[in-house]
Amino acid sequence: MAKIIQAFPLSNMELPNRVVVSPMCQYSGYDGFANDWHLVHLGQFAIGKAGAVIQEATAIAPEGRISFWDLGIWKDDHIEKYRQITTFIKSQGSIPGIQLAHAGRKGSDRKPWEGKAQYLPEHEFGWQTVAPSAIPFHEKDHPPLELSRTAIQDIVVRFREAAERAIKSGYEIIEIHAAHGYLIHQFLSPLVNLRNDEYGGSFENRIRFLLEVVDAVAPLTANQSLWVRISASDWAEGGWDVEQSVALAKILKERGVEVIDVSSGGAVRHQKIDVGPNYQVPFAEKIKRESGLITAAVGMITSGIQAEAIVENEQADLVLVARAFLDDPHFVYHAAADLAADLDWAEQYA
Ligand code: FNR
Repeated sequence: MAKIIQAFPLSNMELPNRVVVSPMCQYSGYDGFANDWHLVHLGQFAIGKAGAVIQEATAIAPEGRISFWDLGIWKDDHIEKYRQITTFIKSQGSIPGIQLAHAGRKGSDRKPWEGKAQYLPEHEFGWQTVAPSAIPFHEKDHPPLELSRTAIQDIVVRFREAAERAIKSGYEIIEIHAAHGYLIHQFLSPLVNLRNDEYGGSFENRIRFLLEVVDAVAPLTANQSLWVRISASDWAEGGWDVEQSVALAKILKERGVEVIDVSSGGAVRHQKIDVGPNYQVPFAEKIKRESGLITAAVGMITSGIQAEAIVENEQADLVLVARAFLDDPHFVYHAAADLAADLDWAEQYA
């Protein structure tokens, strides 16, 4: 039988198959609260038999949002709706996951369909952003505030508290967002992090903030699965690269991270990305081979045959799919059919 359709064991759970819904911001919350849009949006993928459904970048603090309308998990009141979402996903035999995030200097943004551009801090939907160094992402942006050591420690605590709430909400996969030029990636990238204290400069210093977050969250996840999403390359000279990603993956493995989810880019505007089918898979393959961590590939994976080849060739253990799931919430059924594999439809649809 096709490998992507087979169950995949993690230490505390079994994914019913290897095709996972990649996190996708919906810019449709208010004050961090999820609503029925998120329930139906995420729920449809569980009906569609996704192996796991990872909820969008969910902010650990209000100023950690990308936009005012992002989901958040900075207060206990957020938990109730998330419980409904996780309960539904589990009822369909899928695994609910959440991506915990802080946007750093890429926050205070508009919804993409309103034209990506930052709100000024004094705007009702804006705020003062923060970053490792006071350099804006875009020259038009309001400069971020350089984080003090105390402020960094506060964010680490916020990640831990967010993880506690995520577990209370019923999420079984806790993914730390360290990719796409958001706060943790801002620390990792030598192009963005120009600090000269213990959080900047050497590789050991640039990964320090991520490791502190991992060390704060990992002890809570004894019954869950801890994932980290990274950008394996900044696609820019002198930036974060795949060699550093391999070195980081080996360290994450020792710290209790179970899966590394390998994306790329987002740190700097002058990045030059060669986008195409499987364009990030070579990064995943190298990280998997050299670190031994369970590895997820993502990016321009649009068919079951393509996904199966990635897993069959041992380039990655899991396949994350974003836009193709929006296009077809029944992606997994159709992938199975393309691979002549047998997958039972939900009884209601059978
Ligand atoms: C995304 N992506 C994304 N990634 C992430 O780590 N956290 C997020 O919240 C989001 N939000 C988001 C929203 C929307 C509408 C899209 C289309 C994408 C990136 C996504 O998870 C994935 O990595 C990329 O889209 C590449 O995969 P596909 O779309 O080629 O399968």
